[in-house]
Amino acid sequence: MTNYIAYGTISGIIKIETQNVVFVMAKVFAITNQKGGVGKTSTTEGLGACLKAKGFRVLCIDLDPQGNLSFSVDAETDDFPTIYDVMRGSTKPLHAVQRTPSFDIIGANILLSAIELEFTQHDREFILKNAIDAARSRYDYILIDTPPALSILTVNAFVAADAIIIPMLADIFSLQGIAELYETIERVKERYNPSLKIEGILLNKYSSRSVLTREILATAELVAVQMNTKIFKKKIRTACAIAEAQAKQVPLLEYSKRSNIAKDYMIFADEIITGGEEDGE
Ligand SMILES: Nc1ncnc2c1ncn2[C@@H]1O[C@H](COP(=O)(O)OP(=O)(O)OP(=O)(O)O)[C@@H](O)[C@H]1O
Ligand SMILES: [Mg+2]
Repeated sequence: MTNYIAYGTISGIIKIETQNVVFVMAKVFAITNQKGGVGKTSTTEGLGACLKAKGFRVLCIDLDPQGNLSFSVDAETDDFPTIYDVMRGSTKPLHAVQRTPSFDIIGANILLSAIELEFTQHDREFILKNAIDAARSRYDYILIDTPPALSILTVNAFVAADAIIIPMLADIFSLQGIAELYETIERVKERYNPSLKIEGILLNKYSSRSVLTREILATAELVAVQMNTKIFKKKIRTACAIAEAQAKQVPLLEYSKRSNIAKDYMIFADEIITGGEEDGE
């Protein structure tokens, strides 16, 4: 009887071979920062769309009761099962998947905010991980957009994820919140998910011409070293195309493929695919 042989990662994707059959398991990223408005949803959307454009199978999970990601890609959240139904066990994850031009998505709406009160069992940190396990063999990448809080939803995302991407603005308040976030990640690693990795910190709304931004970058690099991670080489520039595409509910790459932000996320996607070893900035 052959045991599973996990033979590393190709394009960041986890491949498992058993009895000469290769299974591809999605690599799961949680996009997180408890600070609001730093670009978690935009990064999930931009990265997800670019990974799909590069030929990968991508599932995005909206784990934020605000439902911003669902809105951006015009997903149905009233008359279609959401991640709330999946986590409650009333719908299988693949039955909650909606196909959109950008990527597949499991949506969310405000009902998800009830999770905190509804799930009180001792293993409630594992609800999302157990719920989405069945979807891992269908995708190359699963991206989880998290709410702006260190709540049980965020902890569920950390337990379900292989790695964490932290979008951050280059300002002093963003740096202040990072220590608290790191503590939560470390606690989850210790108790529930020892192999969880911080993939990196992604600077958003970045302007290399600003002196303050350059100073913050220097500090953020030191902070990243302390967190045993890195600042991604690719930084995301400010560009109104993302907010416009979201408001019009048009896929970013359809709305403006030539915008700075679409180009930046394309290059960032390469950094994610290669693990930063041969990205092209
Ligand atoms: N690089 C960028 N350039 C211009 N606008 C941006 C950029 N990134 C994000 N935005 C805009 O900033 C706002 C906040 O972004 P987003 O919703 O992605 O942040 P968030 O961290 O998900 O917020 P929340 O904490 O509320 O979930 C949105 O209006 C978005 O369109
Ligand atoms: Mg958001």
